[in-house]
Amino acid sequence: MVNIGPISLPGFPLLLAPMEDVSDPPFRAVCKDNGADLMYTEFISSEGLIRDAIKSRQKLDIFDYERPIGIQIFGGDEEAMGISAQIVDTINPDLLDINFGCPVKKVVTKGAGAAVLKDIDLMVRLTAACVRSTKLPVTVKTRLGWDNDSINIGEVAERLQDTGIKALSVHGRTRAQLYKGQADWSHIARVKDNPRIRIPIFGNGDIDSPEKALEYKNRFGVDGIMIGRAAIGYPWIFNEIKHFMATGEHLPPPGIEQRVEVIRKHLHKSVEWKGLVPGINEMRRHYNNYLKGLPNIKEFRLQLVTVKTVEEIDYILDTIRKTYAGYAFEPRKVEMEKMACNCD
Ligand SMILES: Cc1cc2nc3c(=O)[nH]c(=O)nc-3n(C[C@H](O)[C@H](O)[C@H](O)COP(=O)(O)O)c2cc1C
Repeated sequence: MVNIGPISLPGFPLLLAPMEDVSDPPFRAVCKDNGADLMYTEFISSEGLIRDAIKSRQKLDIFDYERPIGIQIFGGDEEAMGISAQIVDTINPDLLDINFGCPVKKVVTKGAGAAVLKDIDLMVRLTAACVRSTKLPVTVKTRLGWDNDSINIGEVAERLQDTGIKALSVHGRTRAQLYKGQADWSHIARVKDNPRIRIPIFGNGDIDSPEKALEYKNRFGVDGIMIGRAAIGYPWIFNEIKHFMATGEHLPPPGIEQRVEVIRKHLHKSVEWKGLVPGINEMRRHYNNYLKGLPNIKEFRLQLVTVKTVEEIDYILDTIRKTYAGYAFEPRKVEMEKMACNCD
């Protein structure tokens, strides 16, 4: 059991990483169905929340079946972060997560996200402002440091724990690395090994298969693993990892029936949450990921992104299901670099 304040997570929890424009309620619904133990919203700007920007407010939407769920905020201003924590408090998620890891230019140039790694005193003040302003457990997600010459996750972890945070997730890259090279989990392992650290430490970065998840669990001793890109178009990754960890055997790749069912649920949730037209449009970027690996799928994909009603999409999905009935999928190869977010 891993405890984040009052939240108890099973044995070795698998977390769905917060991902802007990806981890919205429809996507989270299919990840929850397929074994994600803890999920987060996309990051939400504290300034946007206070201005009452519609986009920021919509990102606060959470549903009971998603629990435990965290709302993630970011910002570089103490007062704004405190007020945002109060706003999040009224929504009543299970936890509030602070993003000190986003490398995107438009975020770091405003002194938020990974930029805060350059000033640990500021990071402590921003975190303390949130801890003071909410009754929720507060957690942080960050990177190893700003760049290779300033890796400071050891000090960051100790000082954040002292502010009262209840868990820390670490992406094993620096800001300068963006999504390039390999995540270096040895720094995460050192945080975990520090006898002063009592809070759960979750490792993040490059987990794309059950083997790697098990290897990293054993090698780096983390309390759980957070998975981002490998879940895009493949929510089955969570249960596949759990099964492999429990039995040493692989679940067979999901067949066409399962894939179509997940697309259908994702689509219907998308329409339910966003409304008909935006829901259908939003869903268009997901088909490619779900249907990867199917021979001659291009024509169907084209139809899926062209039609304008749910009934038509349902009909095409039915045809796909019948056309590829019994198709033996290869185990998936994840193209992680292609899925990295555009940081400029
Ligand atoms: C499209 C995309 C959007 C992301 N948005 C966020 C975000 O809103 N908040 C955050 O903390 N990290 C964000 N990240 C970083 C992920 O949470 C995660 O740390 C990173 O992708 C590394 O994990 P992975 O190798 O399992 O993908 C994003 C990553 C991607 C690919």
